[in-house]
Amino acid sequence: MTNNAHVGIDPRQFRDTLGHYASGVTVVTGMEDDQPVGFTCQSFYSVSVDPPLISFSVMKSSTTYPRIAASGRFAVNVLAHDQDTVSSQFARKGTDKWAGISWTPTAAGNPVIDGTLMWVDCDAWAEYDAGDHLIIVGRVVELSPPEWHTREPLLFFKGAYRHLREVAERTDG
Ligand SMILES: Cc1cc2nc3c(=O)[nH]c(=O)nc-3n(C[C@H](O)[C@H](O)[C@H](O)COP(=O)(O)O)c2cc1C
Repeated sequence: MTNNAHVGIDPRQFRDTLGHYASGVTVVTGMEDDQPVGFTCQSFYSVSVDPPLISFSVMKSSTTYPRIAASGRFAVNVLAHDQDTVSSQFARKGTDKWAGISWTPTAAGNPVIDGTLMWVDCDAWAEYDAGDHLIIVGRVVELSPPEWHTREPLLFFKGAYRHLREVAERTDG
């Protein structure tokens, strides 16, 4: 394979093909001065147990991420099955993303959105350049408590929100 093998990859086809990889949906949050900030992010995964690291990637055009990064810390809120409107709200640039959203602060002060499936609170650990995105690695400093973990996940697959419960019902007949 040559270095310019990517030249033949059509961006639309790239998105459509990679959209067949199902994921959960998160909102990455932080504080700018005393104001909460956040954006919807599906590219989240665990990286390392020792030390405890997670990662996500963010578009270089994001206006919210630089505001989060300035504080050196962030929380990742994994959304529950009924939070598709929360996902859509936090994906809209230049709007009041926090309208109607209830949240509480982590020990470090980052916003935890009510009704989520789980959350992790992180210190910024590393940032890597990756094409039109940045790969962010965070060191986990606090986890949602086990009693928090009572909900079903919101899923994203082929450009649409999905619900595990519906799939389970179909499978069950
Ligand atoms: C389901 C879903 C998943 C998304 N995943 C990501 C992602 O992994 N990385 C990213 O940079 N943007 C992702 N976005 C888009 C951002 O949420 C959106 O571009 C951002 O909120 C733009 O606003 P900002 O300029 O305030 O950052 C996703 C949007 C949706 C609806």
